[in-house]
Amino acid sequence: MSEAFELFETLGGAFGPSGREEDVREVIAAYAAEYCDDLTTDTLGSLICRKKGTGEHKKKLLVAAHMDSIGVVATFIDEHGFIRFAPVGGLSVGDLLNIPVRFANGTRGVISYEEKTALKDLTIERLFIDVGVTSRADAEACVRVGDFAVFDGARFEQNGVLCGPYLDNRIGCAAVLMAMKMLPETVENDLYFAFTVQEEVGLRGSGPAAFAVAPDAAVAVDVTDTGDLPEQKYPMACALGKGPAIKLMDSSVICSPAVTAALERAAAEAGIAVQHEILRFGGTDTAMLQKTAMGAPAGAVSIPTRYIHSPSELCAVSDVEGAARLLAHFLTQD
Ligand code: CO
Ligand code: ZN
Repeated sequence: MSEAFELFETLGGAFGPSGREEDVREVIAAYAAEYCDDLTTDTLGSLICRKKGTGEHKKKLLVAAHMDSIGVVATFIDEHGFIRFAPVGGLSVGDLLNIPVRFANGTRGVISYEEKTALKDLTIERLFIDVGVTSRADAEACVRVGDFAVFDGARFEQNGVLCGPYLDNRIGCAAVLMAMKMLPETVENDLYFAFTVQEEVGLRGSGPAAFAVAPDAAVAVDVTDTGDLPEQKYPMACALGKGPAIKLMDSSVICSPAVTAALERAAAEAGIAVQHEILRFGGTDTAMLQKTAMGAPAGAVSIPTRYIHSPSELCAVSDVEGAARLLAHFLTQD
């Protein structure tokens, strides 16, 4: 079993939809405490870990990974106990048919759909959660309107890949924790690691975290799409297992050429294979790291991942390890 999978099991299994990140924050904090000098939680709930630098001309470098996940929130319970819900973050109907979910209190359910509607016409409004009861009262004994739920699938490692719900972005958090562990005892620069909240609902947590740190340069860590599946709509020059991707651009940001170059240099020095990412649809915390307060040079390291936002996301272990090594080298380069 890889270190990446061990972390994915623990972090991925922690409950943490956007706005409800307490459990996942606790798991990350317990791990990070061993490698950092101080840990703080900001007003919105982002965890900011600092490893103090000893250099004379030290810079403040920030690495940020969002720790929230997509999920659903109960909006209405009918007289038979079926629960209607709204999305928390970006959900596609095709990823939600007859899949298990879990509420914060451990209640499990299955998302299913109104059969009278043709599959192609299904919308989230036509779906419901079945928690195995027959009345509103029995449903309300375990789920209330406003309760959040997350995907509840199993996680596995096989043939060099990891699979399961919430690689986005617990695997990004895992890569950051692995990088932390690789750092030498003393470092030149002041290093900040932010595990941010509410990325999936509109990059809401990273701005305040970046404001608090006011970094000289910042790097976000998240997943990105791949272009290596059969009959895809758009070509994308990013594939599973070819190394972590240095982001050039996505729909929220154009990365700083200086940060991109520093990442390239770190990869070359450490002999890490990398690829380049232009994500046409989707934004990341990188945007907020770049434009918060007076702004900061910002870039991103992405882990190529298939089936993003489904309960069965899939990525390569070697790309996670490469991302961790790349971050560690970037943070310690002159
Ligand atoms: Co996402
Ligand atoms: Zn993400």
